[in-house]
Amino acid sequence: TNIGVFFGGRSTEHEISVISASQAMHAINRDKYDVTPIYISKQGRFYTGDALFDVANYRDIPSLLAKCTQVYMEPSYGDYNLYRVKKPMFGSAVLTTLDVVIPVLHGSNVEDGIFEGVLETIGIPYAGCNTLASANGMDKITMKMILRECGVPVIDYVWFTDKEWFKKRDELIARIEDKIGYPVIVKPANLGSSVGIGRAANREQLIGKIEIAEKYSSRIIVEHMVDNLKEINCSVLGDCDEYRSSVLEEPIKSAEILSYEDKYMGGTKGAKGMQASQKRIPADLPAGMTERIRFLAGETFRVLGCHGVSRIDFIIDDDTKEIFVNEINTIPGSLSFYLWEATGLSFDALMDTLVKLALK
Ligand code: DAL
Ligand code: MG
Repeated sequence: TNIGVFFGGRSTEHEISVISASQAMHAINRDKYDVTPIYISKQGRFYTGDALFDVANYRDIPSLLAKCTQVYMEPSYGDYNLYRVKKPMFGSAVLTTLDVVIPVLHGSNVEDGIFEGVLETIGIPYAGCNTLASANGMDKITMKMILRECGVPVIDYVWFTDKEWFKKRDELIARIEDKIGYPVIVKPANLGSSVGIGRAANREQLIGKIEIAEKYSSRIIVEHMVDNLKEINCSVLGDCDEYRSSVLEEPIKSAEILSYEDKYMGGTKGAKGMQASQKRIPADLPAGMTERIRFLAGETFRVLGCHGVSRIDFIIDDDTKEIFVNEINTIPGSLSFYLWEATGLSFDALMDTLVKLALK
Protein backbone atom coordinates (compact mmCIF):
# COMPACT_ATOMS: atom_id res chain seq x y z
CA THR A 1 0.00 0.00 0.00
CA ASN A 2 1.44 3.34 -1.06
CA ILE A 3 0.39 6.25 1.16
CA GLY A 4 0.55 9.75 -0.31
CA VAL A 5 1.10 12.36 2.40
CA PHE A 6 0.15 15.87 1.21
CA PHE A 7 1.25 18.90 3.23
CA GLY A 8 2.20 22.60 3.10
CA GLY A 9 -0.08 24.69 0.91
CA ARG A 10 -1.22 28.29 0.58
CA SER A 11 -1.91 28.67 4.28
CA THR A 12 -0.68 30.74 7.21
CA GLU A 13 -0.11 27.39 8.95
CA HIS A 14 2.20 26.13 6.19
CA GLU A 15 5.24 25.58 8.47
CA ILE A 16 3.23 23.75 11.14
CA SER A 17 1.95 21.45 8.42
CA VAL A 18 5.54 20.63 7.37
CA ILE A 19 6.32 19.56 10.95
CA SER A 20 3.08 17.58 11.36
CA ALA A 21 3.64 15.77 8.05
CA SER A 22 7.27 14.98 8.84
CA GLN A 23 6.22 13.48 12.17
CA ALA A 24 3.42 11.49 10.52
CA MET A 25 5.63 10.17 7.68
CA HIS A 26 8.27 8.99 10.15
CA ALA A 27 5.64 7.25 12.26
CA ILE A 28 4.24 5.16 9.38
CA ASN A 29 5.34 1.53 9.61
CA ARG A 30 7.61 1.00 6.57
CA ASP A 31 7.42 -2.80 6.77
CA LYS A 32 3.77 -2.45 5.91
CA TYR A 33 3.45 0.72 3.83
CA ASP A 34 5.31 2.81 1.24
CA VAL A 35 5.19 6.56 1.71
CA THR A 36 5.18 9.21 -1.04
CA PRO A 37 5.58 12.78 0.26
CA ILE A 38 3.82 15.47 -1.78
CA TYR A 39 4.63 19.01 -0.74
CA ILE A 40 2.39 21.91 -1.81
CA SER A 41 4.43 25.12 -1.97
CA LYS A 42 3.18 28.50 -0.78
CA GLN A 43 2.54 29.23 -4.45
CA GLY A 44 0.27 26.20 -4.69
CA ARG A 45 2.66 24.03 -6.76
CA PHE A 46 3.08 20.31 -6.04
CA TYR A 47 6.45 18.52 -5.59
CA THR A 48 7.57 15.03 -4.69
CA GLY A 49 10.94 13.49 -3.80
CA ASP A 50 12.91 11.88 -0.97
CA ALA A 51 14.42 15.23 0.11
CA LEU A 52 10.95 16.14 1.42
CA PHE A 53 11.25 13.67 4.33
CA ASP A 54 13.84 15.70 6.24
CA VAL A 55 12.41 18.70 8.07
CA ALA A 56 15.85 20.39 8.17
CA ASN A 57 15.73 20.78 4.35
CA TYR A 58 12.84 23.27 4.60
CA ARG A 59 15.15 26.05 5.80
CA ASP A 60 16.11 26.61 2.15
CA ILE A 61 13.08 25.97 -0.02
CA PRO A 62 14.69 26.72 -3.44
CA SER A 63 17.50 24.16 -2.82
CA LEU A 64 15.00 21.68 -1.45
CA LEU A 65 12.78 21.97 -4.51
CA ALA A 66 15.75 21.74 -6.85
CA LYS A 67 16.15 18.18 -5.52
CA CYS A 68 12.46 17.39 -6.08
CA THR A 69 10.26 16.57 -9.03
CA GLN A 70 7.43 18.96 -9.74
CA VAL A 71 4.06 17.29 -10.08
CA TYR A 72 1.82 19.10 -12.54
CA MET A 73 -1.78 18.85 -11.47
CA GLU A 74 -2.80 20.40 -14.78
CA PRO A 75 -0.96 20.37 -18.12
CA SER A 76 0.88 23.68 -17.81
CA TYR A 77 4.59 24.30 -17.97
CA GLY A 78 4.14 27.96 -17.03
CA ASP A 79 6.45 27.80 -14.02
CA TYR A 80 8.86 25.19 -15.31
CA ASN A 81 12.37 25.94 -14.10
CA LEU A 82 11.15 28.30 -11.39
CA TYR A 83 13.24 26.22 -9.00
CA ARG A 84 15.20 24.37 -11.73
CA VAL A 85 13.35 21.20 -10.77
CA LYS A 86 14.17 17.86 -12.31
CA LYS A 87 12.09 16.61 -15.24
CA PRO A 88 8.47 17.43 -14.32
CA MET A 89 5.88 14.74 -13.95
CA PHE A 90 2.19 15.02 -14.68
CA GLY A 91 -0.13 14.63 -11.69
CA SER A 92 -1.65 11.49 -13.11
CA ALA A 93 1.74 9.70 -13.12
CA VAL A 94 2.13 10.17 -9.37
CA LEU A 95 -1.50 10.00 -8.32
CA THR A 96 -2.15 6.64 -9.99
CA THR A 97 0.61 5.12 -7.82
CA LEU A 98 -1.15 6.16 -4.60
CA ASP A 99 -3.50 3.73 -2.89
CA VAL A 100 -4.58 6.16 -0.22
CA VAL A 101 -3.93 9.79 0.71
CA ILE A 102 -3.38 11.24 4.17
CA PRO A 103 -3.83 15.03 4.01
CA VAL A 104 -1.70 16.72 6.68
CA LEU A 105 -2.74 20.28 5.79
CA HIS A 106 -3.59 22.98 8.33
CA GLY A 107 -5.53 26.21 8.06
CA SER A 108 -7.71 28.08 5.61
CA ASN A 109 -7.23 27.35 1.88
CA VAL A 110 -6.30 23.73 2.69
CA GLU A 111 -8.13 22.37 5.78
CA ASP A 112 -11.51 23.63 4.62
CA GLY A 113 -12.43 20.74 2.33
CA ILE A 114 -11.21 22.02 -1.02
CA PHE A 115 -8.38 19.50 -1.15
CA GLU A 116 -10.69 16.59 -0.34
CA GLY A 117 -12.92 17.86 -3.14
CA VAL A 118 -10.09 17.26 -5.61
CA LEU A 119 -9.50 13.75 -4.22
CA GLU A 120 -13.23 12.97 -4.49
CA THR A 121 -13.25 14.24 -8.06
CA ILE A 122 -10.40 12.01 -9.14
CA GLY A 123 -11.48 9.09 -6.95
CA ILE A 124 -8.57 8.47 -4.56
CA PRO A 125 -9.46 7.20 -1.06
CA TYR A 126 -8.25 9.48 1.74
CA ALA A 127 -8.08 9.67 5.50
CA GLY A 128 -10.09 12.28 7.36
CA CYS A 129 -13.11 14.51 6.91
CA ASN A 130 -14.89 14.95 3.59
CA THR A 131 -15.49 18.35 1.99
CA LEU A 132 -18.71 19.05 3.88
CA ALA A 133 -17.39 18.24 7.36
CA SER A 134 -14.12 20.10 6.68
CA ALA A 135 -15.89 23.21 5.38
CA ASN A 136 -18.38 23.23 8.26
CA GLY A 137 -15.54 22.79 10.75
CA MET A 138 -13.50 25.65 9.28
CA ASP A 139 -16.28 28.24 9.21
CA LYS A 140 -16.83 29.35 12.80
CA ILE A 141 -20.36 30.58 12.05
CA THR A 142 -21.63 27.44 10.32
CA MET A 143 -19.95 25.26 12.94
CA LYS A 144 -21.69 27.06 15.79
CA MET A 145 -25.08 26.98 14.05
CA ILE A 146 -24.86 23.21 13.64
CA LEU A 147 -23.57 22.59 17.17
CA ARG A 148 -26.19 24.84 18.78
CA GLU A 149 -28.95 23.17 16.77
CA CYS A 150 -27.70 19.79 18.05
CA GLY A 151 -27.52 20.84 21.70
CA VAL A 152 -23.73 21.18 21.95
CA PRO A 153 -22.93 24.30 24.01
CA VAL A 154 -21.16 27.18 22.24
CA ILE A 155 -20.41 30.74 23.39
CA ASP A 156 -23.07 33.35 22.47
CA TYR A 157 -22.38 35.10 19.20
CA VAL A 158 -23.64 37.49 16.56
CA TRP A 159 -22.56 37.14 12.95
CA PHE A 160 -22.83 39.24 9.81
CA THR A 161 -21.19 39.85 6.46
CA ASP A 162 -18.95 42.80 5.59
CA LYS A 163 -21.72 44.15 3.30
CA GLU A 164 -24.26 44.02 6.14
CA TRP A 165 -21.81 45.85 8.39
CA PHE A 166 -21.49 48.57 5.78
CA LYS A 167 -25.27 48.88 5.34
CA LYS A 168 -26.65 48.58 8.90
CA ARG A 169 -23.84 49.16 11.30
CA ASP A 170 -25.98 50.75 14.04
CA GLU A 171 -28.47 47.89 14.04
CA LEU A 172 -25.64 45.33 14.32
CA ILE A 173 -23.93 47.24 17.14
CA ALA A 174 -27.25 47.34 19.02
CA ARG A 175 -27.71 43.60 18.49
CA ILE A 176 -24.18 42.86 19.77
CA GLU A 177 -24.63 45.08 22.83
CA ASP A 178 -28.09 43.59 23.65
CA LYS A 179 -27.29 39.97 23.04
CA ILE A 180 -23.68 39.76 24.24
CA GLY A 181 -22.42 42.91 25.98
CA TYR A 182 -18.76 43.84 26.46
CA PRO A 183 -16.08 42.53 26.45
CA VAL A 184 -16.36 40.74 23.12
CA ILE A 185 -13.97 38.99 20.79
CA VAL A 186 -14.18 39.75 17.07
CA LYS A 187 -13.02 37.10 14.55
CA PRO A 188 -12.98 36.56 10.80
CA ALA A 189 -15.17 33.45 10.38
CA ASN A 190 -12.74 31.26 8.51
CA LEU A 191 -9.15 31.78 9.62
CA GLY A 192 -7.26 28.99 11.33
CA SER A 193 -4.71 31.02 13.26
CA SER A 194 -5.05 34.16 15.35
CA VAL A 195 -4.91 36.49 12.31
CA GLY A 196 -7.47 39.31 12.41
CA ILE A 197 -8.80 38.45 15.88
CA GLY A 198 -9.27 41.19 18.47
CA ARG A 199 -10.82 41.90 21.86
CA ALA A 200 -13.11 44.90 22.34
CA ALA A 201 -14.22 46.38 25.67
CA ASN A 202 -16.39 49.20 24.32
CA ARG A 203 -18.21 50.44 21.21
CA GLU A 204 -15.26 52.35 19.80
CA GLN A 205 -12.96 49.31 20.07
CA LEU A 206 -15.68 47.08 18.63
CA ILE A 207 -15.89 49.19 15.48
CA GLY A 208 -12.09 49.22 15.17
CA LYS A 209 -11.77 45.44 15.56
CA ILE A 210 -14.58 44.72 13.11
CA GLU A 211 -12.84 46.94 10.57
CA ILE A 212 -9.70 44.80 10.99
CA ALA A 213 -11.53 41.43 10.87
CA GLU A 214 -13.46 42.54 7.81
CA LYS A 215 -10.16 42.84 5.87
CA TYR A 216 -9.57 39.10 6.29
CA SER A 217 -13.02 37.65 5.70
CA SER A 218 -16.38 38.67 4.31
CA ARG A 219 -17.99 36.78 7.21
CA ILE A 220 -17.45 38.10 10.75
CA ILE A 221 -18.35 36.65 14.12
CA VAL A 222 -18.52 38.54 17.41
CA GLU A 223 -18.53 36.39 20.55
CA HIS A 224 -18.85 36.96 24.25
CA MET A 225 -15.35 37.10 25.72
CA VAL A 226 -14.83 34.75 28.65
CA ASP A 227 -12.23 36.59 30.71
CA ASN A 228 -11.43 33.97 33.29
CA LEU A 229 -11.07 30.84 31.21
CA LYS A 230 -9.36 27.51 30.94
CA GLU A 231 -8.65 25.92 27.57
CA ILE A 232 -9.02 22.16 27.21
CA ASN A 233 -8.55 20.06 24.05
CA CYS A 234 -9.73 16.56 23.23
CA SER A 235 -9.06 14.46 20.14
CA VAL A 236 -11.63 12.12 18.57
CA LEU A 237 -10.73 9.20 16.29
CA GLY A 238 -13.04 7.12 14.10
CA ASP A 239 -16.00 7.71 11.83
CA CYS A 240 -19.60 8.76 12.45
CA ASP A 241 -20.66 5.22 13.43
CA GLU A 242 -17.81 4.37 15.75
CA TYR A 243 -15.48 6.84 17.41
CA ARG A 244 -13.62 7.39 20.64
CA SER A 245 -12.30 10.35 22.59
CA SER A 246 -8.73 10.76 23.84
CA VAL A 247 -7.51 11.92 27.23
CA LEU A 248 -7.63 15.70 27.65
CA GLU A 249 -4.86 18.25 27.31
CA GLU A 250 -4.58 21.68 28.81
CA PRO A 251 -2.44 23.89 26.55
CA ILE A 252 -0.21 26.05 28.75
CA LYS A 253 0.89 28.75 26.33
CA SER A 254 -1.45 28.12 23.43
CA ALA A 255 -1.55 31.77 22.32
CA GLU A 256 2.16 31.88 21.65
CA ILE A 257 3.09 31.45 18.01
CA LEU A 258 6.58 30.09 17.50
CA SER A 259 8.78 31.68 14.85
CA TYR A 260 9.83 29.79 11.75
CA GLU A 261 13.35 29.46 13.20
CA ASP A 262 12.05 28.23 16.58
CA LYS A 263 10.14 25.53 14.79
CA TYR A 264 12.93 24.40 12.49
CA MET A 265 15.99 24.65 14.71
CA GLY A 266 14.81 21.68 16.77
CA GLY A 267 13.43 19.58 13.89
CA THR A 268 10.82 17.00 14.77
CA LYS A 269 12.42 16.31 18.13
CA GLY A 270 12.14 19.97 19.00
CA ALA A 271 8.52 20.01 17.93
CA LYS A 272 7.73 17.08 20.19
CA GLY A 273 9.63 18.70 23.05
CA MET A 274 7.65 21.87 22.48
CA GLN A 275 4.43 19.96 22.89
CA ALA A 276 5.57 18.32 26.07
CA SER A 277 6.48 21.63 27.67
CA GLN A 278 3.38 23.44 26.45
CA LYS A 279 0.65 21.05 27.44
CA ARG A 280 -0.58 19.34 30.58
CA ILE A 281 -1.64 15.79 29.66
CA PRO A 282 -3.93 14.59 31.07
CA ALA A 283 -5.54 17.88 32.09
CA ASP A 284 -6.16 18.25 35.80
CA LEU A 285 -9.98 18.38 36.01
CA PRO A 286 -12.68 16.79 38.17
CA ALA A 287 -13.74 13.37 36.79
CA GLY A 288 -17.29 14.52 35.98
CA MET A 289 -16.04 17.45 33.92
CA THR A 290 -13.51 15.25 32.11
CA GLU A 291 -16.23 12.80 31.09
CA ARG A 292 -18.56 15.61 30.01
CA ILE A 293 -15.85 17.11 27.77
CA ARG A 294 -14.97 13.74 26.22
CA PHE A 295 -18.67 13.18 25.53
CA LEU A 296 -19.13 16.64 23.97
CA ALA A 297 -16.01 16.13 21.82
CA GLY A 298 -17.58 12.93 20.46
CA GLU A 299 -20.90 14.70 19.88
CA THR A 300 -19.13 17.50 17.97
CA PHE A 301 -17.34 14.93 15.81
CA ARG A 302 -20.59 13.06 15.17
CA VAL A 303 -22.91 15.95 14.34
CA LEU A 304 -20.38 17.63 12.05
CA GLY A 305 -19.99 14.30 10.21
CA CYS A 306 -16.26 13.97 10.91
CA HIS A 307 -13.94 11.13 9.96
CA GLY A 308 -10.37 10.19 10.87
CA VAL A 309 -8.70 12.19 13.62
CA SER A 310 -9.92 15.62 14.78
CA ARG A 311 -9.19 17.79 17.79
CA ILE A 312 -11.98 19.72 19.50
CA ASP A 313 -10.95 22.76 21.54
CA PHE A 314 -13.03 23.77 24.55
CA ILE A 315 -13.28 26.83 26.75
CA ILE A 316 -14.30 26.46 30.38
CA ASP A 317 -15.57 29.57 32.11
CA ASP A 318 -13.63 29.35 35.35
CA ASP A 319 -16.21 31.47 37.22
CA THR A 320 -19.37 29.56 36.25
CA LYS A 321 -17.67 26.23 35.29
CA GLU A 322 -19.67 26.23 32.05
CA ILE A 323 -18.16 24.22 29.18
CA PHE A 324 -18.24 25.44 25.55
CA VAL A 325 -16.93 24.04 22.28
CA ASN A 326 -14.71 26.78 20.84
CA GLU A 327 -13.43 25.24 17.62
CA ILE A 328 -12.56 22.06 15.77
CA ASN A 329 -9.37 21.23 13.87
CA THR A 330 -10.36 18.58 11.36
CA ILE A 331 -6.63 18.02 10.67
CA PRO A 332 -5.04 18.74 14.05
CA GLY A 333 -1.39 19.70 14.59
CA SER A 334 0.82 16.58 14.81
CA LEU A 335 -2.42 14.66 14.10
CA SER A 336 -2.84 14.80 17.91
CA PHE A 337 -0.52 11.78 18.19
CA TYR A 338 0.64 12.87 21.67
CA LEU A 339 -2.96 12.65 22.93
CA TRP A 340 -3.37 9.17 21.47
CA GLU A 341 -0.06 8.03 22.93
CA ALA A 342 -1.31 9.21 26.32
CA THR A 343 -4.55 7.27 25.67
CA GLY A 344 -2.60 4.08 24.89
CA LEU A 345 -2.41 4.14 21.07
CA SER A 346 1.09 4.49 19.57
CA PHE A 347 1.74 6.93 16.70
CA ASP A 348 2.27 4.12 14.17
CA ALA A 349 -0.98 2.46 15.34
CA LEU A 350 -2.72 5.83 14.86
CA MET A 351 -1.40 6.03 11.27
CA ASP A 352 -2.49 2.44 10.68
CA THR A 353 -5.99 3.25 12.01
CA LEU A 354 -6.25 6.26 9.68
CA VAL A 355 -5.32 4.15 6.64
CA LYS A 356 -7.82 1.44 7.62
CA LEU A 357 -10.59 4.01 8.14
CA ALA A 358 -9.83 5.53 4.73
CA LEU A 359 -10.04 2.15 3.00
CA LYS A 360 -13.06 0.88 4.99
N1 DAL B 1 -4.42 24.40 13.45
C1 DAL B 1 -3.37 23.91 14.30
C2 DAL B 1 -2.36 23.12 13.57
C3 DAL B 1 -3.95 23.21 15.47
O1 DAL B 1 -4.63 23.89 16.21
O2 DAL B 1 -3.75 22.03 15.66
MG1 MG C 1 -6.97 25.25 13.16
